[in-house]
Amino acid sequence: MTEIKTTPFDDQKPGTSGLRKKVGIFQTANYLENFVQAIFDTVPDLNGGLLILGGDGRYHNDVAIQTILRIAAANGVARVMVGHGGILSTPAASNMIRQYEAVGGIVLSASHNPAGPDGDFGIKFNVANGGPASTAVTDAIFERTKMIDHYRTAEGSVDLDVIGDSAIGDMQVTVFDPVADHADLMERLFDFDAIREMIASDLSLCFDAMHAVTGPYATEVFVNRLGVDPDGMMNVQPLPDFGGGHPDPNPVYAKTLFARMFADDAPDFGAASDGDGDRYIVLGRGIYVSPSDSLAVITANAHLAPAYKNGISGVARSMPTSRATDVVAKAMDVDCFETPTGWKYFGNLLDAGRITICGEESAGTSSDHVREKDGLWAVLMWLNILTVRRQSVMDILRDHWGIYGRHYYSRHDYEEVAKDKAEAVMATLRDQLADLPGRQFGSEVISDADSFTYHDPIDGSVAENQGLRVMFESGSRFVMRLSGTGTAGATLRLYLEAYEPKDGVHDADLAERLAPIAAIADEITNLKQIVMRDGPSLVS
Ligand code: G6P
Ligand code: ZN
Repeated sequence: MTEIKTTPFDDQKPGTSGLRKKVGIFQTANYLENFVQAIFDTVPDLNGGLLILGGDGRYHNDVAIQTILRIAAANGVARVMVGHGGILSTPAASNMIRQYEAVGGIVLSASHNPAGPDGDFGIKFNVANGGPASTAVTDAIFERTKMIDHYRTAEGSVDLDVIGDSAIGDMQVTVFDPVADHADLMERLFDFDAIREMIASDLSLCFDAMHAVTGPYATEVFVNRLGVDPDGMMNVQPLPDFGGGHPDPNPVYAKTLFARMFADDAPDFGAASDGDGDRYIVLGRGIYVSPSDSLAVITANAHLAPAYKNGISGVARSMPTSRATDVVAKAMDVDCFETPTGWKYFGNLLDAGRITICGEESAGTSSDHVREKDGLWAVLMWLNILTVRRQSVMDILRDHWGIYGRHYYSRHDYEEVAKDKAEAVMATLRDQLADLPGRQFGSEVISDADSFTYHDPIDGSVAENQGLRVMFESGSRFVMRLSGTGTAGATLRLYLEAYEPKDGVHDADLAERLAPIAAIADEITNLKQIVMRDGPSLVS
């Protein structure tokens, strides 16, 4: 073991989901080393314990894994289980931590952000429940990075392509195939026999893994276990630069899948997953299911899948996620929690058994089977629902809106905006919050406006300034917040939601239906003028 002198970096504060920076920054001498040592300094139980390690396979993943292994060995970790090739999807990492009772896991990912030498990289620490560390832990890691003066490292490396055991110093390293464990877990939760039968008889399916981590997991589940025609599987080979693409499953970046699902000869069901496999989208023939609607439909229908047949204890959504799920929860008479953006906020509710299902507008949905969002889980849940209801995706949505009303929903992102400009927009809105209630804009009257504060009902912690909400008497709403996952400038997110009651119009054009809310948001915040843009850079 060697101790290497180092000096702190001042920008190692984890955001919504770990520390994300350009690859070049992670290649700076001691940058990764400092952060990893700070994790070991903050979580002493790792000494003598088991650590799960892997990443989404993006550029720099392999180099970073060897560095982390050496630092882990020097910090007394007893054993590291690392995914084959250094690759591990985020939900699989969460499952591994739980299944093998690890002290924690280190997940290397920048999720959907582009990869490659000029792309992004990220590192996230997950705790023993399998979920992302709470803000208390990430704050402590950040504090440690500010005073770090040395890190420990050892000699050695591991061939990540060879499954089996080896060692660095006294630390055992096990390279394992993570695919089977995750597929087994899925098979325990869903009715694979019924899904296989439906796929064989009357459901055509396509799945786009976007050249990211989910490819092998999806191939195992869909092709090997459920009999899907391999022709339906798109981009299943993981690549370090995601094939030059942007593995963000949304209407813009999953263009090919959308074209296929809106073609005359579209399959019945389409889905895609993101860079590290925690997010997903679902489409039916000629219809895209917004992630907020997907959470609501899953909440209403989860009992159709074997593992959830006794019902759910409650549900949670992140604050900007549409309130479609709240309506379902109310009808089911179960709790619906509103948490800040970031999966870590669901952890306490899941651990305490207060919720079974949770999800976000950013295309993550999951349950208490792991402590991360799980793209394949959500896709399989939809398939299981389809096997029981024997309806098209479109009919399921139409029925849903007919019972609960429709929350038209869209997110407008203004990416790579100058930080001061993005903050000026937020300040403009924040300064008016108190005066907004009661004011009328066109046919909308504002009922409430605030800055969202979350009081965790389990540990009493408080998270302030989690986004600005403007609610209308009609049940519509807009929300504005700054993204915590970007790596260049600031990303301003405007979340638009227009409510149409159950006997209202459910087939209006999405953009048209949301236009009045977007116009009001712009009028109040002066958004376009301040950021000097005609419109958002991404609509999802
Ligand atoms: C990651 C997190 C999610 C979050 C999403 C967007 O995927 O795990 O919890 O919703 O990023 O976060 P952002 O701060 O960029 O809106
Ligand atoms: Zn992701």
